Amino acid sequence: MRLRSAQWYEGQDRNSYIHRAWMRRGVPDDAFTGRPQIAIANTASDLTPCNAHLDEVAASVRNGVYEAGGIPLDLPVVSLGETNVRPTAMLWRNMAAMATEEMLRANPIDGVVLLGGCDKTIPSLLMAASSVDLPAVVVPGGPMLNGTFRGSLLGCGTGVWQLSEEVRAGTLSQEQFLRSESAMIRSRGHCNTMGTASTMALVAEALGTVVPGVAGTPAPDSRLLKSAHHTGRLAVDMVAADRRPGTFLTKGSFHNAIVALAAVGGSTNAVVHLLAIAGRLGIDLTLDDFDRIGSRVPVLVDLQPAGRFLMEDLHRAGGLLAVLREVRDLLDPDALTVTGEPLVTYLDDAQIWDTEVIRPRAEPLVAEGGIAVLRGNLAPDGAVVKPAAASPHLLRHRGRAVVFDSIEDFRARIDDPDLDVDADSVLVLRGCGPKGYPGMPEVSNMPLPRKLLEQGVRDMVRVCDGRMSGTAYGTVVLHVAPEAAAGGPLALVRTGDVIVLDVEARRIEVDVPADELARRTPDKATVDGYAAPRRGWERLYVDHVTQADTGADLDFLTGSSGSEVSRESH
Ligand code: FES
Ligand code: MG
Repeated sequence: MRLRSAQWYEGQDRNSYIHRAWMRRGVPDDAFTGRPQIAIANTASDLTPCNAHLDEVAASVRNGVYEAGGIPLDLPVVSLGETNVRPTAMLWRNMAAMATEEMLRANPIDGVVLLGGCDKTIPSLLMAASSVDLPAVVVPGGPMLNGTFRGSLLGCGTGVWQLSEEVRAGTLSQEQFLRSESAMIRSRGHCNTMGTASTMALVAEALGTVVPGVAGTPAPDSRLLKSAHHTGRLAVDMVAADRRPGTFLTKGSFHNAIVALAAVGGSTNAVVHLLAIAGRLGIDLTLDDFDRIGSRVPVLVDLQPAGRFLMEDLHRAGGLLAVLREVRDLLDPDALTVTGEPLVTYLDDAQIWDTEVIRPRAEPLVAEGGIAVLRGNLAPDGAVVKPAAASPHLLRHRGRAVVFDSIEDFRARIDDPDLDVDADSVLVLRGCGPKGYPGMPEVSNMPLPRKLLEQGVRDMVRVCDGRMSGTAYGTVVLHVAPEAAAGGPLALVRTGDVIVLDVEARRIEVDVPADELARRTPDKATVDGYAAPRRGWERLYVDHVTQADTGADLDFLTGSSGSEVSRESH
């Protein structure tokens, strides 16, 4: 088999001379004759602290690649730190995916190992690899070790949301709150709750893009480096077998990813990421597939934010494979993995070692988990809610809307003692979709009004066209599509309108007659809340981003572009 990289290195002409000469760097002469060139797409960055350790992981991958006869190539790619990057890391997910895709295609690369961790990094890498369709395998960077505070587990993100609400409710001092800061993040790795990073690592494994059994290995665990070494070897084998995403990822792979997403009680963000990845592969995955496949699946993993434990506990208790073994009958038995073997073949030896952390099928944490897809006159193209993270008494609810036109408007007014709001009100926030913000930030889990917190209220129905952190919880209807800034009816809701939520019936409505709603136009303040970038990536993004129900990718990036080698550079 002739390698793709041979189109650079093979031959005796001037151009092959140029390609080889600059790449010699001390490697042996036979580096350019038939040895697979394996890129290590690495999102390590000091500004993405969750991924800062990936250089060490990359070193282990390099060893494995060399050992199997390949040539490893460091490829630093755009990295997105969830807590730092403004206005939201999601705005840059497609940019990272596009940049990685183009660099994989433009260079003499035969296969790639993808190193990610923090929320958007694994999705952007998988989107890129799916479009280029070169042999690709993910090594998830792994979660941080457990944090503890005042004697109990303190989870990343979830702890911040809880403790900051305690401060606002007056039940925790500011000093204690600040003391918890260094207790929460105490090692390398990504967030240790079942947030988006943990979810995407596990879901990537269920999808078949990680060596089975590796996802969820804590970042400081030496077994992660061993797995990275092994994955380096595998990448070389994958090139020989021509095992590209387009050859082994099917609708069945996404079916398995959705079952896993539900069984682990994963983040709602996985919905937009999986839709975007499927879009790159030309696989017909829809929002409704998440409800159809996932909503009957029991939640078996007792992790924060919905439950008690953290990722280190999940790994100790048997990890993803032990979870999937319990729901084996719901999985697609034919869906393959990066190894060439079906995912289900890895379940035979899996075992639960702690039934508090991973519940047996017969004793689920929640009988039917997953993500419910809602529709109605407020979300004609759909909205999602995670029932397991919601309050049961709010899953069927009628309440008066209190509408906010931007997150700034929300922050300015939410704690106003005169704000006309009670526990039955529905907080509505708009202008937070892909186009409106821009980038669809994680603001949908709006903090509750201080005066209600002081009365002991801990959850309210909230509706938003943005996303919410996978570490957050509450009765939050999010990803409303179309968003307000794309002409969705969310722009027409007024304070005082009655909002009707019925999760069992999968409905989200505003109780306003159709003819009256049709007569309304958005207020100026509403429209003023939408982003109107004049230049750069933001301009390109706003002009081309699709809505949440199709993955919020750019319209011209869907589909596979392939790895065809383009014209010579000299
Ligand atoms: Fe990076 Fe949570 S901030 S994974
Ligand atoms: Mg996040």
